[in-house]
Parts: sequence; structure tokens; C-alpha cells
Amino acid sequence: MLNPTEPLVIRSVVELQRWSDETRAAGRRIALVPTMGALHEGHLSLVQHGYRHADRVVVSIFVNPTQFGPTEDFARYPRDLVRDLESLRKVGSDAVFAPSVEEIYPNGDATWVNVERLTATLCGRSRPNHFRGVTTVVARLLHAARPHVALFGEKDYQQLAVIRRMARDLCFGVEIIGAPIVREPDGLAMSSRNVFLSPRARQQATALNAALHEARALVRAGVREAGAVVAIARQRIEKEPLAELDYVELVDAENLEPVREVRGRVLLALAVRFEGTRLIDNTLLEAP
Ligand code: PAJ
Repeated sequence: MLNPTEPLVIRSVVELQRWSDETRAAGRRIALVPTMGALHEGHLSLVQHGYRHADRVVVSIFVNPTQFGPTEDFARYPRDLVRDLESLRKVGSDAVFAPSVEEIYPNGDATWVNVERLTATLCGRSRPNHFRGVTTVVARLLHAARPHVALFGEKDYQQLAVIRRMARDLCFGVEIIGAPIVREPDGLAMSSRNVFLSPRARQQATALNAALHEARALVRAGVREAGAVVAIARQRIEKEPLAELDYVELVDAENLEPVREVRGRVLLALAVRFEGTRLIDNTLLEAP
């Protein structure tokens, strides 16, 4: 059921656990949508997917310090709870979990969750310890909300794969569900970081999706060699004067290991910096 009124704003883990226990006791299914706030249509689509799989949706809003590197944008990451609650009104939600840093990381805590191998490639290579921060916070959020399902966007494909593996390996008893990438009208994948882009960078950032398109067209035309597919995407990005390429890679869609040709389900993933703002995008390619 969609809640048309204000969601319940919950600040503490114990309070969320109590809400979850009561909701479960009433026979309702719970979906968790973890976010760092600055909500956009991509986040809202996850809430809508949540209601397809559960009766109650709880959205967590927490800018997680442990997943940012020392030189990354933790301090300037956009934070505006009032605006986020306003955005959530469009789709409804039952509860919003907005804890403080001390609530999630109490003094004296010492436990990390780390998924190996899957985190060694793609974004894991350029953002050391990033995924350790993500899995640690998501583990804590899952234990706080005790949902039946949790939803994550395919925009962060590697994150989704890593969280799926964590939930499976550690018997979380939650179903991890992926949802498609939501894009701006000109194709740029929605991201909370898009607000950092200058008008010039914003315009050039359409190159990410354009590069994926060109690669897909090449595969449709029969090309299978990874080098050629990566090269066409790379060339499209490098046309943009402000673009600093982090990576373009073709990897197996399951284990994220590099592949030499497009066969079965493979993922073309890329990361590009514009004036210091790092953007990512990806597409699945399939060939018989
Ligand atoms: P955040 O970047 O706020 O994203 C929250 C969720 O929204 C993630 O599952 C992400 O993949 C999804 N999302 C973001 N942009 C999207 C888009 N354009 N289309 C569809 N889904 C999109 O990802 C995180 O926060 C954090 O790492 C988190 C999982 C909350 C842990 O701190």
C-alpha cells in the first residue's frame, strides 16, 4: 500500500528494528531502499519497484563516510532532508531512516564486511576501500531494517553484484533486487553528483551514454573482439575536452573478470571524471 501522507522519520537503529518487528508481526512484507539522499528519479524508481515486491517501503538516507576516499567528495556531498522528504511524496513511502554517523558507527565499533575478488576490478581499482565501506554500511542497514527485499540500481552494477554476493555468502535472508538505470532526456544517467557539473561539463557528460550506444551498435554489427568494442567507447569519451577517462572495461556480467570477446552476457562499464566529478555508466551486451 502506498502511504500518501508523510513517512515516519526514524533516527535510531533500535526504533527501526521495532518498526520492522511490528510490521512483520502484522504480516506485511518490507522493502528497504538504501540511499545517500539528494534523491532523484532514479532513487524514486527504486521505491516504486519496492512496492511491487512488498507492502511497506523504508528508504534510508545516510551519507556513508566509510565509502569515501580521503580526497573524495564526502564533505560537499549534497544533503537536504527536507527536500528529500518532499521528493518522496511523489511516490509515497512508509518510513525514512535518517540516522546520524554516530548511530551507524558507534564509538568503539570494530567490524567490517569485505567481499573479495568482485571488488578488485572496475571501481574497486580506482577507489580503494570504497566497497568495504558500502558492504559494511549496507550490512548494518539490513540488520536495522530486517527487510524481505532490498533494492539497488543497475547504474552501480558492481555495487549490486557485490551486495548480492555479501547477502548470499553471509545468509542475510533478504532478496536483493536490481532495477534499471533511469536517465535524463539526453541520456545522461541520473546521479546525485550531476549537480556538481558546470554547464559545459554537463553537456559533454552525454558522451558516457553515447559511448555505450556506439559500442552496442558495433556489437550489433557483428564485432565480438573486446579490444575493438572498448576502443570505440574510449574514442567517443576522448572526443570531449573536459573528459578524463578512469576506465572503460568489458567484463563478464557475473564475476566481473575481464573478457576477450563478447560472448554470452558481458558488461561494458566506464568511469569518467569531469572537472573532478566522477561519473559512471554501463550497459549489458549479449551475443549468442
Ligand atoms: P546512492 O548513490 O544515493 O544510490 C542509491 C541507490 O540508487 C543505489 O542502489 C543506486 O544504484 C541507485 N541509483 C542511483 N542512480 C540511479 C539511476 N540513475 N537509475 C537507477 N538507480 C539509480 O549507492 C549508494 O547511494 C550507496 O553506495 C549506498 C548503497 C546507499 C550505500 O551507502
